[in-house]
Amino acid sequence: MRKLYIRTFGCQMNEYDSAKMADVLHARNGLEQVSDPAEADVILFNTCSVREKAQEKVFNDLGRVRELKAARPGVLIGVGGCVASQEGESIIGRAPYVDLVFGPQTLHRLPELIARRLESGRPQVDISFPEIEKFDDLPPARVEGASAFVSVMEGCSKYCSYCIVPYTRGEEISRPLEDVLVEVAEVAQRGVREVTLLGQNVNAWRGSGEDADADFAALLELVCEIPGIERVRYTTSHPREFTDRLVDAHARLPKLAAHVHLPVQSGSDRVLTAMKRGYTALEYKSIVRRLRRACPEVSITSDFIVGFPGETDEDFRQTLELARSMAFDGSFCFAYSARPGTPAAALPDDVPAEVKNARVRELQALVDATAAAVSQSMVGSLQRVLVTGPSKRDPDELAARTSNNRVVNFAGAARLVGHLVDVEITEARAHTLRGSVPGSMPATAATCGTAERAGGSDGGSR
Ligand code: SAH
Ligand code: SF4
Ligand code: F3S
Repeated sequence: MRKLYIRTFGCQMNEYDSAKMADVLHARNGLEQVSDPAEADVILFNTCSVREKAQEKVFNDLGRVRELKAARPGVLIGVGGCVASQEGESIIGRAPYVDLVFGPQTLHRLPELIARRLESGRPQVDISFPEIEKFDDLPPARVEGASAFVSVMEGCSKYCSYCIVPYTRGEEISRPLEDVLVEVAEVAQRGVREVTLLGQNVNAWRGSGEDADADFAALLELVCEIPGIERVRYTTSHPREFTDRLVDAHARLPKLAAHVHLPVQSGSDRVLTAMKRGYTALEYKSIVRRLRRACPEVSITSDFIVGFPGETDEDFRQTLELARSMAFDGSFCFAYSARPGTPAAALPDDVPAEVKNARVRELQALVDATAAAVSQSMVGSLQRVLVTGPSKRDPDELAARTSNNRVVNFAGAARLVGHLVDVEITEARAHTLRGSVPGSMPATAATCGTAERAGGSDGGSR
C-alpha cells in the first residue's frame, strides 16, 4: 500500500480531520497523498450530512470509485465523517464494496481498522465517540504554507431543532488549554503566521482542571502571545456565547483578524424560537453593534436557512430586513433540508421548493450587494495582507488575504510568500480585490486592537 486519496465534503472541521487522516496514515502506514483516485491504494471519503444534497453526493461519488475497485480489487475504500457517523453499518448495506466506516472521533484508529480489514477480510466499522482521545493519538501536524487550522473543541451541544451535527459529532468537548497552545506553537515553529481556531461553536470553549476559569477570550489572548503568530482567526462562533469579553478581545488584541463569521439563520423571532437558536433578532443585532463599536473595520459574515417549516412571507421579510440592516460582508444561504432524527424533521416541510429557492436567490443577491459595497469601500485603503502563494489566475502575481478575509492579487516578489505585507487596494472585482505594494507608506492594518490601549472596548484603532 502506498498511495492515499481523500475526498473531503462539508465544513472546515472536516478539512482539518482530513489533514489528520493523511498525517496518521503517513506516519503509521507510509501512505503518500495523491490527487487522482485512480492512482490510490486507499480511497477515503470524509463526508457531510448537514443537508440532504451533501449526503446524496457522497453516495453518487462512491458509486464511481466502485469501478476503480472492480479494476483493482486490492484498493481499500473508507467512508468517514458525518454520514458515516449517522449511518454506520448501513453504509456497507448500501455500498458493499466499502471496507472501512469510521467517525469524526475515530479517524486516529484508521491504521488499526486497515490492519483488521486486511486480516479478517471483512469490512470494519468504528463510529464510537471516545471523546478527546483522537488528539492524543495523532502525530504532529505536517504543515505547509503560512496558515493553519487548529481545532479547539469538538462537537455541539446546542441541538438547534433542524441540525444533525450534535448527533454526528457528539456533545461539545473542549481540548485542554495546554494542548491547544502546544499545537499552535508547533505550527508557528514550522513557519505558520496565521492560525484559525476551529470548532462548531468555538466560543463555547472552556478550560478544564487548573484552567477552569479560562474562557474563549482568554484562549485567544494566549494564542496571540505565541511567538511567530501574527494573525488569529476563529470559526464558527455562536451568538449565544458571544460574551462582552469576546467583544472586548476584538478591541484589545491587534493580532485578532477583523472578521467574524456569526451565523444568524433567520431574522424572525418566531422562526428563531422554532429553530431553538436561543437568541432574538434584537440580541443578534446588539452583538454586531457592540462588535463594530469595539472594532469599526470588523467584517461580519453569516449563515441563513430559508424555508424552515412554517416560515411565512412576513418571516422572510424580517430576514431580508435583518440582512439589509447588518450590511453583511458575505453569507451562505441554505434552503432548509429536513434531517432524519432531528426534532424539526417531525414538522411538515411545508415551504415549496420553488419558494425556498426564490428566497435563497433574493437573500443571497441582497448580501452579495452589501459585500460588493464593502469591497468597493476598501479601494484606496492600505491593507495588511498575508501572502499565501502565487495567484491562481496569473502565476506571475501573488495572492494574499486581508484581515477581513478577502483575496487580493498583486504583483510582487515570490519571497513575500508567507509574510504579512501592506498593499494598497486598487480595484474591487466580483470575488477578489486587486492591489499594489506602495513604496514605503506607513501601514494602517485592518485589525482593531492596539497593544497600548489594552482593556479598551470603546473603539478601534485609527
Ligand atoms: N455551528 C454553526 C454552523 C454549523 S452547520 C452554527 O450554529 O452557526 C453550517 C450551516 O449549515 C448552519 O449555519 C446552517 O445555516 C446550515 N444548516 C444546518 N442544518 C441545516 C439544515 N437542516 N438545512 C439547511 N441548512 C442547514
Ligand atoms: Fe448545528 Fe446549532 Fe450546533 Fe450549529 S449550534 S452545529 S446549527 S446544533
Ligand atoms: Fe457537515 Fe459534519 Fe461539518 S454534517 S458541516 S461535515 S460537522
